[in-house]
Amino acid sequence: MRTIDDLDVIGRRVLLRSDLNVPLDKSGSGAITDDGRIRASLPVIRKLADRGARVVVMAHLGRPKGADFAERAAGGPSLRVVADRLGELLGKPVAFAADLVGPSAQSVVAGLADGDVALLENVRFEPAETSKDDTERAALAARLATLGDVYVGDGFGVVHRKQASVYDLPALLPHAAGDLVVAEVAVLKRLTESPARPYVVVLGGSKVSDKLGVIGNLLGLADRLLIGGGMVFTFLAAQGYEVGGSLLEADHIDSVKTVLADAERRGVEIVLPTDIVAATKFAADAASDVVPADAIPADRMGLDIGPDSRALFASKLADARTVFWNGPMGVFEFPAFAAGTRAVAEALAKVDGLTVVGGGDSAAAVRSFGLAEGAFGHISTGGGASLEYLEGKTLPGLTALDA
Ligand code: 3PG
Ligand code: MG
Repeated sequence: MRTIDDLDVIGRRVLLRSDLNVPLDKSGSGAITDDGRIRASLPVIRKLADRGARVVVMAHLGRPKGADFAERAAGGPSLRVVADRLGELLGKPVAFAADLVGPSAQSVVAGLADGDVALLENVRFEPAETSKDDTERAALAARLATLGDVYVGDGFGVVHRKQASVYDLPALLPHAAGDLVVAEVAVLKRLTESPARPYVVVLGGSKVSDKLGVIGNLLGLADRLLIGGGMVFTFLAAQGYEVGGSLLEADHIDSVKTVLADAERRGVEIVLPTDIVAATKFAADAASDVVPADAIPADRMGLDIGPDSRALFASKLADARTVFWNGPMGVFEFPAFAAGTRAVAEALAKVDGLTVVGGGDSAAAVRSFGLAEGAFGHISTGGGASLEYLEGKTLPGLTALDA
């Protein structure tokens, strides 16, 4: 992969695709609740600006709905809050275009001097960005290409998406991978090519259906798999236990049974929680008790792993030399159900080896606990992207940069 050191950028308009898809406060203020992805994107923006490039950042926010740009822009979310935060972190103003390829973008880009930085409005306000139709995406990419002279792909968190600004645009301009993409891929290579052992993978999050592919591939790589989060209840159900009102993907019980059998055959240890924090409802103030994992009452839902499981998971991480973690162990956004996720984060921080925290929620969780980011080998900016890489899939955004 070419890097930005191979590109001549002075005085040139650099179209930079970053992943600035940050979580926003859902209670109304719309404020950014975790700016990790913006901070992770800064080094390349700074480097390009310092080299005299005119930096035009493209990014998405959320999954806007609507028939066309106008409808989507009216519904939001707008990247304007991100432009403001980016400007604060950069220590200089970031020009914001109120559209992606329209008059505002054209005039903002035309007004840039060498070393200036602009951010275009949410690429996903243009329905063609995420279109499955190649010609629709290509048409948008062609319009975007008129705004730049070279392309840099640095949005690691979105490289698994075959989208216009990620996949189609780089084919139209001289292109290179940004430093964040280079660093993320280097870490993932270490996880897949001769990792130090024991290699322990911790998986959580709500849906087992999203993780079956990666689990299948990890059975050939890892020594031990620790499972928590909402997805664990499908594992418990596969073992014949009642899970009450907990999250359950009943149509995936059979696939999970296959996974358990494969793991046994391949000598991969699967570690499931032994106790569960079972609540009366899905709410921050729900009453809850710790119950055995094989005896969740019918009127309760599991919202976290219990204290015995926290100790068990910590002990299963203590001797690890390589760890990959994706997905919270419980509903960590509610303080009463955050202890399992916190325990895994703390156990990871003590590991003597390469520890990788993959993805949006787990990375945000680590930061929300106030743990030093330096205690982890690598906090990835891409959840879905890391998982698809570890699943052995081809990532369109990386393929495009390699071409
Ligand atoms: C993410 O947050 O997972 C990335 O920014 C990609 O966004 P998406 O899942 O909406 O494509
Ligand atoms: Mg995602």
